[in-house]
Amino acid sequence: MTELFYIKTFGCQMNKHDSDSMSQILINQGYRQTESIKDAHIILVNTCAVREKAEEKALSLIGRLSHLRTKKPNLITGVIGCVAQERGVNLLKHFPYLDLILGPRNIYQIDKLLSQIKKERERISSLDLACELTSFPKCNGYFKGRVTSFLKIMEGCDNFCTYCIVPFVRGRETSLPAEKIIDEAKHLVSQGIKEITLIGQNVNSYNVRDKALPTFPGLLNELDSISGLERLRFTTSHPKNLSDELIDLFAGSKSLCAHMHLPVQSGSNNILKLMSRGYTRDKYIDLIERLRKTRPGITITSDMIVGFPGETEKDFEDSLRLIDEIGFDNLFSFKYSERPGIKALELPGKIGENEKQRRLSILQERQRGITLSKNRLLEGTIQEILVEGPAKRGDNQLTGRTRGDKVVNFPSANNLKGRLVMVRIVKGFQNSLLAELVDG
Ligand code: 5AD
Ligand code: SF4
Repeated sequence: MTELFYIKTFGCQMNKHDSDSMSQILINQGYRQTESIKDAHIILVNTCAVREKAEEKALSLIGRLSHLRTKKPNLITGVIGCVAQERGVNLLKHFPYLDLILGPRNIYQIDKLLSQIKKERERISSLDLACELTSFPKCNGYFKGRVTSFLKIMEGCDNFCTYCIVPFVRGRETSLPAEKIIDEAKHLVSQGIKEITLIGQNVNSYNVRDKALPTFPGLLNELDSISGLERLRFTTSHPKNLSDELIDLFAGSKSLCAHMHLPVQSGSNNILKLMSRGYTRDKYIDLIERLRKTRPGITITSDMIVGFPGETEKDFEDSLRLIDEIGFDNLFSFKYSERPGIKALELPGKIGENEKQRRLSILQERQRGITLSKNRLLEGTIQEILVEGPAKRGDNQLTGRTRGDKVVNFPSANNLKGRLVMVRIVKGFQNSLLAELVDG
């Protein structure tokens, strides 16, 4: 009998990529993926620990696995990813029905560990942060129906921003070999992928420690020459490592899309210092100016935290002024969340929950207006769209993204999935744009 596995993925693109890697390994070993948790013989929960709320969501699902296990004693259940790494074997104590605890660095062992659990029915944890990264599992046909994909180029982070748990749960920064990345990109293109987003916690510092190896711009240049790869993106970048060489690539690269996600986190120099970010507000503004000069029309998105310890009303207003001044196309904003082990735990001046919520609401309201006016500015322009498939709303509409990463819906009765088409933007909304096909 073919065994069915179910994966629930919380969190960021790194987790999504990790889940795809595990699925491919398991399918290559003869397992089959199911979308139904009730039918599954193996349930894996890939977790996120970046904020308390994300962790609570994962723990609540893990709690609910208890009754499934009671009904199916042979069910295998595993917790994967950042919460697994953070809580470790305590999870085995807390949830007596869990079989497997697997850290983000150890996901490539998933098949071997499942075999061991089945054979010996023992409970296993694998949490070695020094574990070497292995190459990409390749499963033909896995990406069927998709036109975009993530590709992990590095793992971990060495920055230790004082609010961030990532360096503790994903370990030290490690870059994957360029030849393996290029080989994987070619494989993805052979599987029908047209757009690749290179991912890592801090892609700008790819191979930064070894001068003999290709830098991030060098890697982008090599990928740019892969035929059939229409679009290249990357995330996440750190402002302190954004080199002129990388900015210059936006002028000349064929496939590189005109979008930069550049988390700023705060508009106040005091807070940036307490966060240990390594740049000032002016330095950040200067980077954005250089990007816009090099590639007019480039879209800029960012992350912002409100209510960091010690954030005064004036610091918060500095953040508001920054978002007005820059005019981000989109902003992901969060209330500061206390995480185990982070340096910010020791900082004085904790902000209460109500005040954090008040600041978040003001910031988000302000950004909503900016996003909408940015989207409206595109009305009447011609944009290239990579068609991803039918729009969510249906109505004979297709959906895709501009090179600047804006979601565009447009009416068409044809199957254009995977095609690059030119459209005219008819209307800009809060979260998407409406368009019409330009020539057929
Ligand atoms: N609290 C709130 N937001 C956080 N982020 C990271 N750690 C925290 C935290 N402790 C946000 C940052 C980061 C994004 C992925 O999550 O803005 O860029
Ligand atoms: Fe966290 Fe800072 Fe590393 Fe980003 S760069 S993962 S915010 S420590």
